[in-house]
Amino acid sequence: MKSIPLFLMGCGGVGRQLLQHIVSCRHLHAKQGMLLRVVGVCDSKSLLVATDVFTKDLNDSSLMEICRVKSSGSSLSMLNGLGESQIFTNMESTGKALEIAGHLGRTTGLAVVDCSASSETIEVLKQVVDFGCCVVLANKKPLTSSMEVFDKLVSHPRRIRHESTVGAGLPVITSLNRILASGDPIHHIIGSLSGTLGYVMSELEEGKPFSQVVKAAKSLGYTEPDPRDDLGGMDVARKGLILSRLLGWRLNLDDIKVESLYPDEMGPDKMSLKDFLANGLQLLDKNIEERVKLASSKGNTLRYVCSIEGTRCHVGVQELPKNSALGRLRGSDNVLEIYSRCYKDYPLVIQGAGAGNDTTAAGVLADIIDLQDLFS
Ligand SMILES: NC(=O)c1ccc[n+]([C@@H]2O[C@H](COP(=O)([O-])OP(=O)(O)OC[C@H]3O[C@@H](n4cnc5c(N)ncnc54)[C@H](OP(=O)(O)O)[C@@H]3O)[C@@H](O)[C@H]2O)c1
Repeated sequence: MKSIPLFLMGCGGVGRQLLQHIVSCRHLHAKQGMLLRVVGVCDSKSLLVATDVFTKDLNDSSLMEICRVKSSGSSLSMLNGLGESQIFTNMESTGKALEIAGHLGRTTGLAVVDCSASSETIEVLKQVVDFGCCVVLANKKPLTSSMEVFDKLVSHPRRIRHESTVGAGLPVITSLNRILASGDPIHHIIGSLSGTLGYVMSELEEGKPFSQVVKAAKSLGYTEPDPRDDLGGMDVARKGLILSRLLGWRLNLDDIKVESLYPDEMGPDKMSLKDFLANGLQLLDKNIEERVKLASSKGNTLRYVCSIEGTRCHVGVQELPKNSALGRLRGSDNVLEIYSRCYKDYPLVIQGAGAGNDTTAAGVLADIIDLQDLFS
């Protein structure tokens, strides 16, 4: 039986779902001759590790207890004394995590999985790469900080997987890497990579006011608690930056032109969320309605897209033919069109759910399994 030791950073919606997938797939993995051994899990404040990471792991009942405690909003430190495990808090956690990664990275191998939404994991990730560990990311921040960090993380391409950083579980990164590996030059990538903004733009087409559509998206749970986090476009810009860097462009986040769907004076530092929802949003209705009508008069529709062409990446609203994969988009799906020599007149189109804990965690799990050849 091949054994893959795992260390999980981040135990929110995606991290917990990943633990559940691991437990529910035990039978399937055993049939494939694989055992996923979770040796440590950390959140923002604490670390829970098996007492001896070489011979022990956090068993399935401990993993389920972690999920229960974390979904109730408590810290991992509540689990002091759980099974054959130890808790480390705050300052001690990073040192202990690096100690484990050092031991396992150089011996059995270790997959370090980042399901946090934090930049604080970057220093740990840089070091574990030097220890020979594999890295699996759902977190976009490590790959969108400096070029130096990006170069370091991808320095051993066989040891990093990050499918869920763009399009959640959709095979976006895999497809791109396969096209690039075959020497087929990619000319243009254009995609609707935010489920929230995909929903908003397609609902506008029905003639509904922007303010009403954003509020509906919020009540359906499609938006962040403050919808301006989606409407500002920075999350799409991070995805665009990851794709651009995969194409070989040495860009940084501030090289990307990002169009926000609300003006500066309605930003979170100048207007409360309550005021934005009650008064600010509807001031944006008229302008957007006019843009929708103008596009429609030309047989087009508006989509909030990330477009990478040449060395430039641009994120914002574009008019696109109604009769295109992006133009036909309805609801919260992601759609990505890739144009290359082989996909010249008709793009390669990848479409499907681009968010959600289940599909994102499934993407992370598939990435871990994809590393199995590196373990014995
Ligand atoms: N959900 C989706 O649909 C989706 C889709 C694609 C990609 N992603 C990405 O997946 C990641 C996880 O998303 P999520 O929805 O699960 O986020 P989340 O619910 O906010 O959970 C984040 C987790 O990270 C932990 N954390 C914060 N700082 C940390 C640190 N320094 N070290 C270790 N853990 C730390 C948090 O700890 P506490 O519990 O102590 O706060 C929390 O457990 C994000 O980067 C997100 O962008 C999500």
